[in-house]
This record gives sequence, C-alpha cells and structure tokens, in this order.
Amino acid sequence: MSDAPHIAQPAPYKVELEGEKSYFWCACGQSKNQPYCDGSHKGTSFTPLKFGVEAAKTAFLCGCKHTANAPYCDGSHKALVVPQG
Ligand code: FES
Repeated sequence: MSDAPHIAQPAPYKVELEGEKSYFWCACGQSKNQPYCDGSHKGTSFTPLKFGVEAAKTAFLCGCKHTANAPYCDGSHKALVVPQG
C-alpha cells in the first residue's frame, strides 16, 4: 500500500473562508465533502489539517493533496499525471 493521497481533483477548490473559525482540510483525498474532512481518512495514515484565517477571505485550497503548502494550492497539481477514467 502506498501512502500517496488520493487526488480528489487535479485543481484547487476556491472557497470563501470565515474569520476566526476552524476548518479541517482533507489530506487523504477520500472525503466526499471536499475540500474538507468528512472522516474518510479513518484507517489511512492521513489526518486532516486544522486551519483558520483571521479575517474572511477567498482562498484556493489544494484538491490534488500534493501541495507542499497545505491546505493551500501551491501549483503542484500542474506537475501531476492524472490517471484518466
Ligand atoms: S490543487 Fe494541489 S497544488 Fe494545486
């Protein structure tokens, strides 16, 4: 078994974040509530990343789960080879 996360989608999710609120970014890629955790990581080696912002803002959260700047997209999705089908 590999520890590579599932690619939920090979592009970021544009979201509106509220200030002073906690969010849990899905790291395993299995959540049905992308880009947020729904508990699907249970049984995997992944855990969600808790984060928040001080003031409301628009953000691009990583959907490919390969970013080096989680939970935000860092452009890594452009280098992924995505299986078709
Ligand atoms: S969606 Fe993952 S780095 Fe852009």
